[in-house]
This record gives sequence, C-alpha cells and structure tokens, in this order.
Amino acid sequence: MGYIIAMAGKGGTGKTTIAALIIRSIKEKKLGSILAIDADPNSNLGEVLGIEPGESVGKILDDISADPGSVPPGMPKDRFIEYRVQSAVAEGDGFDILSMGKPEGPGCYCYVNNVLRGVMIKLIKDYDYIVIDNEAGLEHLSRRTSRYADALIVVSDASSVGLKSARRINELAKQLKFEVKKSFLLVNRFNKNMEEGKVKESGLDYLGNLPLDPGIEEVSLKGEPIFNLRSEAPVFKALNSLGERIWKRN
Ligand SMILES: Nc1ncnc2c1ncn2[C@@H]1O[C@H](COP(=O)(O)OP(=O)(O)O)[C@@H](O)[C@H]1O
Ligand SMILES: [Mg+2]
Repeated sequence: MGYIIAMAGKGGTGKTTIAALIIRSIKEKKLGSILAIDADPNSNLGEVLGIEPGESVGKILDDISADPGSVPPGMPKDRFIEYRVQSAVAEGDGFDILSMGKPEGPGCYCYVNNVLRGVMIKLIKDYDYIVIDNEAGLEHLSRRTSRYADALIVVSDASSVGLKSARRINELAKQLKFEVKKSFLLVNRFNKNMEEGKVKESGLDYLGNLPLDPGIEEVSLKGEPIFNLRSEAPVFKALNSLGERIWKRN
C-alpha cells in the first residue's frame, strides 16, 4: 500500500505549493515512486509541478453517465472506469499525476463513486507515495478517493482566525471518519517577528513553520514550476528539515 500524504487547509494557505514542495523533496531524495492527485477542482497542482494533467476523473464520470452506451460491449462497467482512470494518469519526470476534477452532469454518481473508490484504492497500491492536494474541505477526498491518510497536513497562517479554521478542519476529518495515522499543523508564511508559542498551542500536533519566501512568489508570478525554485530557497530548506516527520513510514 502506498503511503498517503493529504493536504488540507483554507484556500490560499499554501496547500498546492507545499504539496509540490513535498513531491519535489520525495523525488530528489529518491524515496520511491510518486502519484500526485489534484483533488481540488479549482486547483493548479499540475501547473505548479510543470506538467499537463490528463483527462480529469470528473470528466470520465460525466462521459459515462451521459452515455452509458460508451462502455464497450462485454466489458464490465467497473473495468471500463478502471481502464479510463488508468489512462488519465499523466507521467511526469519522477512522478505521475491524476486530476480528480469535478463531475458537472445532473446524473446520480452514487454507483460510479463507489466504483471509483475501488479503482483509486487499486491505483494507489501501485505507488510508494501518494500526495493529495485537496480543496479547502475534505468532503471531496472522503467521497471519492480513500478515507485514509498516513499523514494529514493541515496548512494555516499564524493568525488566530487561521488557526481556528485549521482546528475545525481537523475536527471535520474526525467527523467524516477519515482515518488518519498522524495529523499535523504546518504554519505557512511565518515571519520572524511572529510568536511561535501561541501557534504551538493550537491543539494540533505542531509540525513547524515555513517562512514567507520571495522565491516562491517569483516562480508563482512567472508561472514556473516549483522545480525552478533554487535548492537553497529558505522555504525548501525548512520543508526538508521538517519533512522526515511527514514522509517517514513508521
Ligand atoms: N511560503 C510562501 N512564501 C511565499 N508565497 C507563498 C508561500 N506559500 C504560498 N505562497 C503563495 O501563495 C499563493 C497561494 O498558495 P497556494 O499554494 O495556491 O494555496 P492553496 O493551494 O492553499 O489555495 C500562491 O500564489 C503561492 O505562490
Ligand atoms: Mg490549491
């Protein structure tokens, strides 16, 4: 079974950026094969990783709901969904990516969602690491992929509003019966003048903080991939020093 790292946190906190940094670290450390899952329909994980994702899973489900006749005769529907999802995985340099998208159609997706969950569990087994970039809530993940994560990373800024929201997200994960082995708070865009003590008392297991880094702003403004960030960039160094606790299997 692959080791699942799932990102959570309010919009704009840095989930996509940090997911991409984690992928870069795991790749550069040669820890194993990686599947990036973009589970935020409004997200851009592919862009940040410098890769064009294939067809989204949402689009595949839409196609099949709109035209059940598209399933080849003699092929069970679940096999067909599995085949289409596997074909939608795009191969990057040192990692693969799958975009979940969002079904737009009016149909009932209960059946396909159930099938999809099985397909995703199978797919995940083919990789050593799976990094899931989620939308703000966790509903998407729990509904359509797996309800399990080895490490849930809740990203927040250092504000008290932000930290409250991080706590809520962690509670939601529990309510959704999301099975999480370890759950961490990662404070992003931390600046030296902030008080770390208050942040540590947020009620979540505190992983540490990542600094506000102009290097990130630069690659992001230019629309460049995270791999163009220099290795000495403060945010990347900080992530690497905290990372063991994220990706270490135990
Ligand atoms: N540590 C950081 N330093 C500077 N800019 C950052 C940092 N983390 C994120 N950003 C920028 O903030 C914006 C939002 O980050 P993003 O990762 O897209 O958040 P989310 O996925 O949570 O919505 C992006 O433009 C990103 O480049
Ligand atoms: Mg995002």
